[in-house]
Amino acid sequence: MSLKKLHIQTIGCQMNVYDSDKIAQGLDPMGYRLTDSPDKADMIIVNTCAIREKAVQKVFSYLGRVAGLKQARPDLIIGVGGCVAQQEGDRILQRAPYVDLVFGTHAIGRLPALVARIETERQRVVDVAMGTCIEEPDGAVMPRGETEVSRFVTIMHGCDNFCTYCVVPYVRGRESSRQPDHILDEIRGLVDTGVREVTLLGQNVNSYGQKEGLPDFTSLLEKINDIEGLKRIRFTTSHPKDLSEKLIGAFGILDKLCHHIHLPVQSGADRILKKMNRNYTSSQYLDKITKLRHTCPDIAITSDIIVGFPGETEREFTATLDLIATVGYDGLFAFKYSDRPNAPATRFTDKVDEHVKDQRLQKVLELQEKITIAKNRALVGQTRAVLVESYRLKPASGTGEAGTGQWTGRTSTNKIVHMPAAEAGPGQADPIDKGFLIPVLIKKAFAHSLWGLPDGSGARTACGPKGESSHAA
Ligand code: 5AD
Ligand code: SF4
Repeated sequence: MSLKKLHIQTIGCQMNVYDSDKIAQGLDPMGYRLTDSPDKADMIIVNTCAIREKAVQKVFSYLGRVAGLKQARPDLIIGVGGCVAQQEGDRILQRAPYVDLVFGTHAIGRLPALVARIETERQRVVDVAMGTCIEEPDGAVMPRGETEVSRFVTIMHGCDNFCTYCVVPYVRGRESSRQPDHILDEIRGLVDTGVREVTLLGQNVNSYGQKEGLPDFTSLLEKINDIEGLKRIRFTTSHPKDLSEKLIGAFGILDKLCHHIHLPVQSGADRILKKMNRNYTSSQYLDKITKLRHTCPDIAITSDIIVGFPGETEREFTATLDLIATVGYDGLFAFKYSDRPNAPATRFTDKVDEHVKDQRLQKVLELQEKITIAKNRALVGQTRAVLVESYRLKPASGTGEAGTGQWTGRTSTNKIVHMPAAEAGPGQADPIDKGFLIPVLIKKAFAHSLWGLPDGSGARTACGPKGESSHAA
């Protein structure tokens, strides 16, 4: 079997990152090995996102760029997968005639057969069929070359919630949960390769297993918590309506469960929440925040916000700003509402002007930046357990001089922390390495990161609020 080079361009969410790994895993037995360089690739796969209009524009502008490569090398195979592929199907071939393969979100397991067809018949192939459950390659997802400390693990597919703005139920299909044994095996396999943290993925992990009558999400977390060698567990996303008391309680019990929850509120105005079909009110949401903080006082809370949903008045937008200030989020992802194919809100008539959306987005971002900086500054002088994830040699400002090494990791509360690497003398190793969980004294705070010094002076006992110290190795 001759070896070939595969370049995957992942556009979009964490689930797409996971799907890209599955794509690479599926094509590996056919001789395809990953390359970072599209110029050297025999096949380029663009794994796409359709969640917002901007993401779709990004896909077509990337495809425009690789079109030139195909002109120079007609044997190059160009494939488009993911949500845009699912949504657009063979319309992609009309818009981008140099594309050879379009495969939808349920076709990843069939990809080797589709690629074999293209290789032998040199025909263009479209597969956007959707089933009730997703066929996947078996086993743990391959490590991506170098050892990675943190990896994503999809535990469920699709979504049944039908928020009126959202395209996901149409492009990813009905909700279905993976078997717990498959998930546990996959995580054990990852841990064997050096992975120390997993982030469990689903559109609404809180409803894991409900449809299939499987043990619930908290039970799954308990089993994952018992996996030897694994140090941290994260998950995303939680739908506020399904956040159970049991899951809130898990933050007080499971020692590997990180003190962070992404709990998207979308809006602070009840009328808008209703029009969005979110199935909770702002006060029900705030009640859950209170309970989370009662169980886990240092828990970091992040959220998604949509500004300019159809019909959103100035007063309703102010309610969103008020809610953001009341919760005091650790971080926010804010988006301008955009119409999506099939999503019911696309047919709502009272659309908000684009420049009003711009102004509202700006206000949300400004407010959040102030909150984030204040929260980060409050950590200065405190020690936090940090899971070390990567090393980078920062070039020195002058030419010819050696740079300085920098480690980067995250706190349990998902804050990025940079630390200087030790100046190891000849024969001396840096006492830190990827995958270490170490106490770090936070010295400086910025808007998007912290800077600290690895604390070897017994600071472990002085480790911040409840929980984080228990993560220290
Ligand atoms: N317009 C703007 N933002 C959207 N999101 C989902 N659909 C849309 C849309 N049509 C945002 C939501 C969701 C996040 C992943 O993307 O905030 O939580
Ligand atoms: Fe979209 Fe709502 Fe499902 Fe999230 S819960 S994926 S916003 S439909």
